[in-house]
Amino acid sequence: MSTSFGVMLLGTGSSLPVRSLCNGDFPASLDTSDEWIRSRTGIAERRIAAVHETAVSLGLAAARRALESAQIRPTELDMIICATVTADMLVPSAACLLQAGLQCRPIPSFDVNAACTGFLYGLSIATQFIRTGSCRHILVVGTETLSRIADFSDRTTCVLFGDGAGAVVVGASEEAGRGEHWFRLYSDGRRGDYIRLNGARLRPPGSSAQEPRPSDEFDFLRMKGREVYKFAVRTIIDLVGEILFECNLSPADIDLVIPHQVNQRIIDAAFADLDFPVNKLMVNLDRYGNTSAASIPIALDEAIRTGRAAPGDRVLLIAFGGGLTWAGGVWTI
Ligand SMILES: CC(C)(COP(=O)(O)OP(=O)(O)OC[C@H]1O[C@@H](n2cnc3c(N)ncnc32)[C@H](O)[C@@H]1OP(=O)(O)O)[C@@H](O)C(=O)NCCC(=O)NCCS
Repeated sequence: MSTSFGVMLLGTGSSLPVRSLCNGDFPASLDTSDEWIRSRTGIAERRIAAVHETAVSLGLAAARRALESAQIRPTELDMIICATVTADMLVPSAACLLQAGLQCRPIPSFDVNAACTGFLYGLSIATQFIRTGSCRHILVVGTETLSRIADFSDRTTCVLFGDGAGAVVVGASEEAGRGEHWFRLYSDGRRGDYIRLNGARLRPPGSSAQEPRPSDEFDFLRMKGREVYKFAVRTIIDLVGEILFECNLSPADIDLVIPHQVNQRIIDAAFADLDFPVNKLMVNLDRYGNTSAASIPIALDEAIRTGRAAPGDRVLLIAFGGGLTWAGGVWTI
């Protein structure tokens, strides 16, 4: 097992909008039902940002909680990485706005776009800077306001997503046996059309700079649901198999699995195939839906705060999403 000591999870935090949208709250014109959504996805409700809430304001609240639980002051941070596909604006990045909001020193801050895999990409980048000694404390945030890119007249997508933010602080540690053990990141852009969100109000590729902007109309998230479903189940099975093999572990050695909170059927199908007992799966998608880059840090924070995960536990993290992208790894928290 390739073991790396020295990158510790120091604190976690999350923040969710107060407003909840239950399955029964969708308008009759959407032609859906609580029964359909629950049985096909496991989702019962999701949180929706209020007018004043943004990816940055939710991320800031999650970051403050993570810093508090890590007992680290914002001025002690050496880097901020923010995973999101719904940043408040393209420039400045959400990470820069977080850096300003937290009143940090002039440290490097940048966004990562790997859709629902973004948080694990960000976490993996953070560990590299810590392991080399370039940074001592890094804040990694996953934050999304997916309700702003969901088409609420498209029943095949809008019922799936929710808003929220999660954050972790990672840092250098000498404590043997705890920390990141193994991590792997992947992408396959040839299947990019499975989940697609055109940049709003950008000229499309191939158009000349002189052409007027094609339309002010916002283009919403589009998805090939069935293809994504098959990709997700296959990816979990293959990547968890790879993680266990590379780390020389069996399901019995894993204390808790925190999968991307995508769909109960996807999680059930994949982990049944892998012979993981259901009590090792952390699932909160019934309450929050799919919050993309925020889903794993929200679930991790909930697992720690509710005692489902305790210091010394070996936790398997796995995510996949648009790009296509996927990633996974094992941490002893
Ligand atoms: C989206 C998903 C729930 C659809 O479930 P499914 O069992 O594959 O359903 P299908 O897409 O085959 O659609 C079956 C029917 O249900 C309908 N349907 C789709 N969404 C519906 C909804 N919210 N309410 C009621 N009916 C719905 C479809 O229009 C279709 O109707 P038709 O047969 O008349 O054409 C499922 O494919 C899925 O979870 N995919 C993964 C998507 C995802 O999580 N993406 C993010 C990854 S990070």
